[in-house]
This record gives sequence, structure tokens and C-alpha cells, in this order.
Amino acid sequence: MNDDTLLLVENISKRFGSRTVVDQVGFEVRRGEFMAIIGPNGAGKTTLFNLISGGVRSDSGRIMFKGRDTTHVRPDLLCRGGLSRTFQINNVFAGASVRENIRLSVISFRRKSWDMLTASKGLFSDEVERMASAVKLQDQLDKSVQELAYGDRRRLELAMALAAEPELILLDEPTCGVPLVERGPLIELIQATMQMRAMTALLIEHDMDIVFSVADRIAVMYRGRLIADDTPDAIQSNAKVQEVYLGGAAVA
Ligand SMILES: Nc1ncnc2c1ncn2[C@@H]1O[C@H](COP(=O)(O)OP(=O)(O)O)[C@@H](O)[C@H]1O
Ligand SMILES: [Mg+2]
Repeated sequence: MNDDTLLLVENISKRFGSRTVVDQVGFEVRRGEFMAIIGPNGAGKTTLFNLISGGVRSDSGRIMFKGRDTTHVRPDLLCRGGLSRTFQINNVFAGASVRENIRLSVISFRRKSWDMLTASKGLFSDEVERMASAVKLQDQLDKSVQELAYGDRRRLELAMALAAEPELILLDEPTCGVPLVERGPLIELIQATMQMRAMTALLIEHDMDIVFSVADRIAVMYRGRLIADDTPDAIQSNAKVQEVYLGGAAVA
């Protein structure tokens, strides 16, 4: 482990029934790094995120975040400690407005109660507007989530994850369902935020153009195992990786 190691995953495994979905995976992420995780559908990428963010309990192995053992720490505590995530499937309150959704994230991060949410509609309004501007949703604050375009929903989700001011953000297919023309801007937004806040990011992404243009490092998962972890150039010429992809497996 180096001084600038932010996340260290050691030999982590997870079984569902008799199936080992994450199989002795280990890697580290350094501060400021933008690391991508790729692999065919069902490779175990989302489960790996669930293990790191505390939603799923590992069967063996260890996870260290900021030098502390966080292997079995709850997601809400990890979030307060600086680790947030977005979900592959939208995780917003569809019946509420953009403003209410962002405010809820800010409030939960600040450990305020639901009562305060209803008692004071103006609570954290500056912060909510700041987060909305950060993801370019400032003109849609009073729209109901149901009225938002799908790409805008993904940006809202990003704002909600950023509201916790994470040091490490886990992004699970943030461009999934987002129209092609909006993908570049969404990723640029993430990159800009990383620079502005000295944030580190782990990205699961199926769009290889995006992966190879943004990632400092790429890890490849296949059937629960990490089969490669290297620079984009080295990944591109890695024989094992080529075998997985040329073998007809769908990239995800
Ligand atoms: N809660 C669960 N119970 C049982 N099987 C699961 C569960 N979550 C994921 N799996 C299985 O684990 C495998 C890996 O899934 P996942 O981590 O979602 O892969 P990926 O994100 O790479 O597509 C899949 O076969 C999936 O069906
Ligand atoms: Mg997934």
C-alpha cells in the first residue's frame, strides 16, 4: 500500500448460493485516479461495487478505505466517510422534484431529520442550487423527476452522489440509457468535478470510447475474476483481454 492509496481491495470474494460471483479480486486505487472497470455482462462488476460501498457483505477478503478497514462498514457510514456511489438503475424519487431529490441527499449527508425537510423548504437552498448547477440542472429544479429526460435523470443521480462530497465516487454505468450526444458532456462533467474537488473515481462503463478516453487505468473482470489491471495501452494489447472480447462476449 502506497501513501496515496485511497482504496485497497484484497482478495475479496462473494458467493450467491453455490456461485462465486466475485472471486478473490484485488486492486488498489490511488488518490486522484480515474479507474475504469470493464467486463462482459454478469462478470461481477456491480457486485464488486456493492461490496466496496457496503451494500453486500463479502465472504472473505478485506477492503481498506483511507487506511481503515471498511470491509463490513455500513453504506451510510461509508458515505459520511467520503465514499459515494451511483447505481446502474436509476435511484431517485420519481414523484418528487429535482430540488427535493437533491435536498434529500444534502440533508441525509448532514444528518438532519426528515422533519426538518418538511419543516423548512428553504433548508440548504444555496447548496441545492450549487449542486444543481454543477450538473447543469439549475433550470430544471422545480420539474418533477418524471418530466426529466433520461440523461437528465442520470445527471440528477450524479448530483445526489456528489452532495455527500465524496473523496471516492463509484459510478455504475452512468451513461447507460443516455443518448450518445449527451455522453461526452456527462463524462466531462465528472472529470471537471474530479479536478475541482480532488475527487477519485471508479467507473463501470460499457462504452469503450469513453473508457479509453478517460481512464488512467483499466481493470477487466471476467467470470468474477480480475483478469487484467493496467494502463489503457497495455489493456488494448493484452492477449487475455482480447480473448474475452473476441470470444463474442458482450461488453458491459
Ligand atoms: N443478489 C444476488 N443474488 C443472486 N445472484 C446475484 C445477485 N446479484 C448479482 N447476482 C449474480 O451475480 C452475477 C454478477 O452480477 P453483476 O455483479 O450484476 O455483474 P455485472 O455488473 O458485471 O453485469 C450475475 O450472474 C448475477 O445474476
Ligand atoms: Mg452491472
